[in-house]
Amino acid sequence: MRYLNETFTLNNGVTIPAVGYGTWRIYNADASVAVFKDALDVGYRHLDTAAFYENEKSLGEAIEAHEVDRDALFITSKVPSNVKTYEETIEVFNQTLADLKTDYVDLYLIHGPAPREERHDTRPYDQGNLEVWRALEDLYEQGKTRSIGVSNFAVRDLKNLLNHGRIKPMVNQIRYFIGFTQDEIVAFSKANDILIQAYSPLARTGIFEHPTVKQIANKLDVTPAQLAVRYCLEHGTLPLPKSQNKDRMKNNADVDFSIDVVSLKALDAIDFDPAKDPLPKK
Ligand SMILES: NC(=O)c1ccc[n+]([C@@H]2O[C@H](COP(=O)([O-])OP(=O)(O)OC[C@H]3O[C@@H](n4cnc5c(N)ncnc54)[C@H](OP(=O)(O)O)[C@@H]3O)[C@@H](O)[C@H]2O)c1
Repeated sequence: MRYLNETFTLNNGVTIPAVGYGTWRIYNADASVAVFKDALDVGYRHLDTAAFYENEKSLGEAIEAHEVDRDALFITSKVPSNVKTYEETIEVFNQTLADLKTDYVDLYLIHGPAPREERHDTRPYDQGNLEVWRALEDLYEQGKTRSIGVSNFAVRDLKNLLNHGRIKPMVNQIRYFIGFTQDEIVAFSKANDILIQAYSPLARTGIFEHPTVKQIANKLDVTPAQLAVRYCLEHGTLPLPKSQNKDRMKNNADVDFSIDVVSLKALDAIDFDPAKDPLPKK
């Protein structure tokens, strides 16, 4: 499980474990505390949560009950995409710290450039995003978060922060998997030294039955999930697979193999459009 200990380095010098554990749809409950303890037992140290996921309390409990030291963890949380003022950002951030039972996070993101329910709208929230970003910059300078970034930001949204903010984002967390690689925003982020985190890296299982994926996974003697996680790493993006099953958690982190150039090209040629072929709900 080398990849749980490998790291990427952010543009501020902070290191971040190269495979993170996704937590969406594992809601606050006793059962989810047990799931998060499993993830820590497996060896995940990079944990991706958000106020929107309604699981920060369970995650905080699992961490508190586990023997792992806080400074061995890399915890990401996110300000909800409908929050677009400075004051409310600070308020939700403080609630996140209280729920996680910690006094800092390692990465704090703007969850989306526009409220979730308006995400297909083209109306920009430039002013609001700058206000939220100013709050994140202040939290960063106060040492309450070790790094800051964004999620679901397009090139135009990133340019807004790059042109008007004080601090360059360290991360852009976007939907990224075999067949759906968002090349424009990836290239722009990389050119600006902004690390891409790949969310839904397994396409929520949606690409597992693709014939090319199956054939290459067979050839390399790995599961389609391992191939999907490894694919992100091969392209310099940081995968955040989610599983609530301990064996699958292990499988997703066991990616110490490489994808040969020919196979990688074949995977790159896949076009999987989740708009036409919606992802499974979980
Ligand atoms: N920033 C954002 O807007 C945003 C949006 C979406 C996601 N995310 C982050 O990215 C994380 C991952 O994305 P995701 O949860 O959408 O989907 P995902 O990680 O692509 O897929 C999760 C699904 O795959 C199944 N699975 C996991 N490992 C498997 C394996 N080895 N074999 C077979 N099936 C497997 C899981 O089921 P089991 O749990 O039963 O194993 C679950 O149904 C989220 O949890 C969240 O942290 C961020």
